[in-house]
Amino acid sequence: MTMTATGSRWSDQFVGRAVMVTGAASGIGRAVALAFAREGAQLALADRDEAGLAETLRLTGTNRHWASPLDVRDGAAVAQFVSEAVDRFGRIDCAVNAAGISGPSATPLADLAEEDFDRIIGINTKGVWLCMKHQIPAMIEAGGGAIVNIASGAALVAVPGSGAYVGSKHAVLGLTKAGAADYASQGVRINALCPGFTRTPMAMGSLAAMGLGEADAAATAPIRRIAEAEEQAEAALFLCSEKASFLAGHGLVADGGHSIV
Ligand SMILES: NC(=O)c1ccc[n+]([C@@H]2O[C@H](COP(=O)([O-])OP(=O)(O)OC[C@H]3O[C@@H](n4cnc5c(N)ncnc54)[C@H](O)[C@@H]3O)[C@@H](O)[C@H]2O)c1
Repeated sequence: MTMTATGSRWSDQFVGRAVMVTGAASGIGRAVALAFAREGAQLALADRDEAGLAETLRLTGTNRHWASPLDVRDGAAVAQFVSEAVDRFGRIDCAVNAAGISGPSATPLADLAEEDFDRIIGINTKGVWLCMKHQIPAMIEAGGGAIVNIASGAALVAVPGSGAYVGSKHAVLGLTKAGAADYASQGVRINALCPGFTRTPMAMGSLAAMGLGEADAAATAPIRRIAEAEEQAEAALFLCSEKASFLAGHGLVADGGHSIV
């Protein structure tokens, strides 16, 4: 039998906890939001896609959550979002920063357009930093917390033709370590999740753009399949949980063994 994430609740530790999720309108961010909702958390959901955000809110099936449109590149808007979340819930206990984009996947580094580089770094890297910049003081104020930044397998090794994405994700892992070094002593644990190929609109779109199918992606990992977004969500919840109490600045690789071969 193939064991995958079951969607069953695994503890009471997140009941009533206030959790901020970016990229919550789709894919991994939505799966993270729904997993935290299942665990009884109160959610502050952010994404620039308003319709997708409303659908995630609907899927949570309760009215205890809050969602608001947010472009993670906008520092003032991120500050306002965090402040409003604290006003509503009294604190932020956990944050999962999943907003991100893919970018060109077959463009050698020297051929990359400057605007593509700025866009990818702006969302994937600066966006994560801006979120941490405002989440960290709120967590310190509340006595501690946990942040999970969604990086990528491309945070660890290069992917040919995807230079800006690779650079943006290596930087996410670097910022995760830097944040952990600065704030672990104040009770804020910051870690990253490095997913392998995961079934989301972004990933399936990237595959199609390269003229590839799911079987091609599945063949690159010893586990011989791609991940479901729910499996990445469970890994993110683990990093936020008390079970991960001694993890700081870690990049957890959830890639079905892709990076070991
Ligand atoms: N799917 C994979 O195979 C995979 C693998 C490794 C890493 N990741 C990472 O996981 C994260 C989630 O990706 P996904 O696959 O779920 O993609 P997705 O496209 O399904 O979801 C990404 C979400 O981010 C939002 N977003 C994009 N730019 C934004 C901005 N400026 N402000 C606010 N929200 C913004 C989008 O609207 C979307 O809802 C990304 O950081 C991605 O790089 C995905």
